[in-house]
Amino acid sequence: TYVVTDACVKCKYTDCVDVCPVDCFHEGPNFLVIDPDECIDCTLCVAECPVEAIYAEDDVPEEMQSYIALNAELAKEWPTIVEKKDPLADHEQWAGVVGKIHLVER
Ligand code: SF4
Ligand code: F3S
Repeated sequence: TYVVTDACVKCKYTDCVDVCPVDCFHEGPNFLVIDPDECIDCTLCVAECPVEAIYAEDDVPEEMQSYIALNAELAKEWPTIVEKKDPLADHEQWAGVVGKIHLVER
């Protein structure tokens, strides 16, 4: 499966959702997650993300391992998103910031 990680938090560009053939992205207030039970490993979303937030599960960097379980957990709580929308208002300010997992809103 593929995993949405730190760079997405407080940005949420949503380019990724347009290309997913199985609609497995789920949307929260300031972050998106992939449902690991639905993702078919097509890889299409990876290149779409302007901040390179999406990794194959096996390639998630050490400091972002917590995002694997977080995607699985929140995918069960948040609704599906299937169409691109505008990024969050402060996306430019947050795009280069790292270590944002504590800022994920439920
Ligand atoms: Fe969807 Fe493919 Fe990305 Fe999985 S790898 S989330 S199936 S676009
Ligand atoms: Fe997030 Fe990148 Fe998609 S910022 S919403 S993973 S395009």
